[in-house]
Amino acid sequence: MKKQTLYDNHGRPISYLRLAVTDRCNLRCFYCMPEEGIRYLPKKELLTFEEIERLVRILAQNGVSKIRLTGGEPFVRTDLMQLIRKIVSIEGVEHVHLTTNGILTAPYIHELKQLGIASVNLSLDTLDRERFKTITRRDEFENTWNTLQQLMAQDIPVKINAVVMEDKNIDDIIPMIELTRTHNVSVRFIEEMPFNGEGNHYTRLVWTYKKILEWIRSHYPDLQKTEDEPHATAYHYQVPGYRGTVGVIAAYSRTFCGSCNRIRVTAQGVLKTCLYDDGVLNIKELMRAGLSDEALEAKLLRAFASRPRDGFEAEAHRRSKFVMESMSTIGG
Ligand code: GTP
Ligand code: 5AD
Ligand code: SF4
Repeated sequence: MKKQTLYDNHGRPISYLRLAVTDRCNLRCFYCMPEEGIRYLPKKELLTFEEIERLVRILAQNGVSKIRLTGGEPFVRTDLMQLIRKIVSIEGVEHVHLTTNGILTAPYIHELKQLGIASVNLSLDTLDRERFKTITRRDEFENTWNTLQQLMAQDIPVKINAVVMEDKNIDDIIPMIELTRTHNVSVRFIEEMPFNGEGNHYTRLVWTYKKILEWIRSHYPDLQKTEDEPHATAYHYQVPGYRGTVGVIAAYSRTFCGSCNRIRVTAQGVLKTCLYDDGVLNIKELMRAGLSDEALEAKLLRAFASRPRDGFEAEAHRRSKFVMESMSTIGG
């Protein structure tokens, strides 16, 4: 039976789990990992599908109704669809979402639609094949583009995630917004965060959400603010007369922490109650040590009751001062 919504120590509901199903990825986006890749986890270090199901069941019984599968690239994990089939059938799970780079996704779109996937967020930073190659270090633009077309054809809600980077894709901002003229798609521009697996090339954020917004407004002076979903990461806008929407995500400025309903489980099965903390509970170890559902639930609830107020507090309390993780391990 579904329990009542859980609230954290700051009165925020905990209703959204972001679950990284693998740390592996078939791209090498430079804002996420170094060219040589990161040291991938051995398979036994990942939560098994059975462990994931168990965890989702416990969380769903405690009011977590939205699940996002992320990675790395989720489709790099063998038999991902098998896991999705299981997750959509868990009582209390109302919305299952995916964040993917789209390269391996197309063959599964039909079944995703049948399973009632709530939406797909597609990581795509440019519409130009050469720039795609420079940013991702792989020549795979056509595959992602094809996935985008097929998702739209199947009427699956799509959000495009574009990380905004000085000297890399500023010239893409306007063409990407132009996609929303005729397509019912949300294009979201994201501040770059320092989770690049290196911890050493981050100095100062140039393209803040304010600067991104100014840039957009200078091209579309009559840009209109639209309503944001509750707990949304993005501020949404629309060019009058266009079908889709434009979003800006202040991921590094962290302006939306006050309504944060998210918890994360990393590829190695570690709970994060904020993107910027460095892990608060090793769920995998606890499960493998034979903890009962009740004992695990108690530990989870305790962790939710001591969440940092915002991403700045979480960052200040990190054990390791420098952010060395790759987004690929954290799950975005
Ligand atoms: P929706 O559920 O569709 O609103 O998507 P989402 O924004 O929760 O998820 P997505 O995986 O598409 O992430 C988009 C960007 O927002 C990525 O760069 C994420 O890292 C960032 N993001 C998502 N959740 C948080 C968060 O809680 N805090 C911060 N600072 N950034 C986040
Ligand atoms: N900064 C901001 N966003 C990032 N993403 C990956 N790495 C970073 C980063 N360093 C985004 C990707 C993906 C989402 C889950 O996180 O665009 O769509
Ligand atoms: Fe939530 Fe932390 Fe992200 Fe803020 S930075 S929205 S508290 S996860």
